Amino acid sequence: MSLLIGLLLAAVPVGADEIKPGSAFLSPEMQRQQQDQGRNPGYLWVEQGEELFSRREGGAPTCTSCHADPKQSLRGAAARYPQVDAASGKLINLEGRIEQCRVDRQKQPAFGYESQDLLSLAAYVASLSRGLPLSVSAEGAAKPYYDAGKAFYERRQGQLNLACKQCHDDLVGQKLRGDTVSHGVGTGYPAYRLEWNGLGSLHRRLRACSLGVRATQFDYGSDDYLALELYLAVRAKDLPMEAPGLRR
Ligand code: HEC
Ligand code: HEC
Repeated sequence: MSLLIGLLLAAVPVGADEIKPGSAFLSPEMQRQQQDQGRNPGYLWVEQGEELFSRREGGAPTCTSCHADPKQSLRGAAARYPQVDAASGKLINLEGRIEQCRVDRQKQPAFGYESQDLLSLAAYVASLSRGLPLSVSAEGAAKPYYDAGKAFYERRQGQLNLACKQCHDDLVGQKLRGDTVSHGVGTGYPAYRLEWNGLGSLHRRLRACSLGVRATQFDYGSDDYLALELYLAVRAKDLPMEAPGLRR
């Protein structure tokens, strides 16, 4: 911990720094591996998701029944999440939208957050936006959620009394427990993380950061993390989508 405190004391707040994607802070070898579909294990989930997309279950319509030619029809969709759902007025992310289609339109039981099926479908749909600029709105109905997410990002929390901002703005580029601190954006998620030995959602990564400062870990899909996800997305506006990311 003394290392961390030392870093924070030495940190010169950089302010309006240019926000970079998470992969920019990986070693060149890991960057190449992320780009290479044959060597990035996240693509196993993408392939699985592609299969699930047209899987038949009883008489229920498949995803393809309503989303024909997803490579075209859902291209760019993931880059617009989280967003406020017009019907319910609630903020939902990509996982939430897929679950909504699963339950309301396929009339099947929810997959559950962090289940392999939902991760696979989210990775597949996200991969269809690879390279496209993130474009999430903070206006209108999204504004209160954006404000809540920003307040969360800037609030000191946990036993270590640290805000997200203190690491992901003030310590960017510094080494922390073997990682290089990034701007903390979500454009690489779901991501394959070596430490997880598998694919995980952005909310799983957020839970790891909350635990890191000994703060409350919110539930997967909680309103708190959804608002935070929205803030991170607006902060990362125009960055290229890079899911499935590869991380340490
Ligand atoms: C003590 C410093 C610290 C704090 C505080 C912290 N994080 Fe992190 N965070 C890290 C480190 C280290 C990593 C792994 C390296 C990286 O990608 O930055 C990380 C990773 C991330 C990532 C994944 C980035 C990627 O591309 O894989 C996101 C998103 C993130 N943090 C968001 C947050 C949010 C939101 C908060 C506040 C709730 C937070 N972090 C608080 C240190 C911190
Ligand atoms: C019975 C038709 C139907 C089925 C089956 C269906 N969807 Fe949908 N889906 C829709 C409609 C209609 C929308 C637009 C919802 C809206 O914007 O309110 C939508 C929206 C979406 C979106 C967001 C698109 C965007 O541009 O915002 C995604 C992603 C998606 N569906 C994925 C899936 C997946 C994955 C499955 C299978 C698990 C699935 N859907 C099954 C009808 C369906």
